[in-house]
Amino acid sequence: MSTMIAISGLTKTYEGGFEALKPVHLDIREGEIFALLGPNGAGKTTLISIVCGLVNASGGRVTVGGHDIVRDYRQARALIGLVPQELTTEAFESVWNAVSFSRGLFGKPADPARIERILRDLSLWDKRDNRIMTLSGGMKRRLLIAKALSHEPRVLFLDEPTAGVDVELRRDMWQLVRGLQADGVTVILTTHYIEEAEEMADRIGVISRGEIILVEDKATLMHKLGRKQLSVHLQEPLAAVPATLGAWALERSDDGQTLTYTYDAERHERGIGDLLNALSAAGIAYKDVNTTQSSLEDIFVSLVREKA
Ligand SMILES: Nc1ncnc2c1ncn2[C@@H]1O[C@H](COP(=O)(O)OP(=O)(O)O)[C@@H](O)[C@H]1O
Ligand SMILES: [Mg+2]
Repeated sequence: MSTMIAISGLTKTYEGGFEALKPVHLDIREGEIFALLGPNGAGKTTLISIVCGLVNASGGRVTVGGHDIVRDYRQARALIGLVPQELTTEAFESVWNAVSFSRGLFGKPADPARIERILRDLSLWDKRDNRIMTLSGGMKRRLLIAKALSHEPRVLFLDEPTAGVDVELRRDMWQLVRGLQADGVTVILTTHYIEEAEEMADRIGVISRGEIILVEDKATLMHKLGRKQLSVHLQEPLAAVPATLGAWALERSDDGQTLTYTYDAERHERGIGDLLNALSAAGIAYKDVNTTQSSLEDIFVSLVREKA
């Protein structure tokens, strides 16, 4: 697969000295769906805004389809559709005009059949003559997507596309993204929902404090993240884990009151039932058990710690 976006040594220091991007190196492959996953304030919007030419980088270089985003701005930008995080758009324009105008901005000839198809795909066809100000929040977001697609971009950026949207729009959006991929469009979406990255992406990049701390195929990452822990709270403290329980690699808490079993939620090589039976067989009584799964927050923390 060839590289669609090449980002090398990209940095951003905002006025006032805040370092929003440490040197970022990242290649996006043509035709992939790439999820940039990170907590609020990590630098996702900053990164996208630089690639789309809305914010100037402090250092480094970006090419889109081989075009440098500074030197060959127009060629690079023409390849890109951007669905911004914030819902800002004209108020008095009609839906149809707004989308047609967006296409014209990129110098593309009018194509009413294409605009119609985009509006139908996004369930906006019935609203085509409505003024934008009369649309609901979800409809406005659909409109932003329609505008971003109006000029047939080869790369689509979706910045937090499903934050605060209803289930129906989320489903439509995912379907739309899959359809775009089938047409060979490269899609980059940012999110702080791991489920979204899991559902959609071929590859996932994790960004934290302006640094890309990991880029991995989704399948590999999900395997790493799909870890659960079972904690068994004992009746009596245990001085040591009996050898008969060695296969579970249990961790004993310092006070001996709790045993913790870490397992892969996807695979069931050693079931929880087997463990509890083995505890009983070893004469170990417990008063409570509970399971926990790493939250995204935990995952970030552990990734950052691994990195340090
Ligand atoms: N125009 C700006 N001036 C100064 N700081 C900014 C500006 N825009 C964003 N930041 C800061 O840069 C960091 C990254 O922001 P942003 O890229 O929006 O993160 P994300 O999209 O991951 O939530 C945040 O700490 C934010 O406060
Ligand atoms: Mg953002």
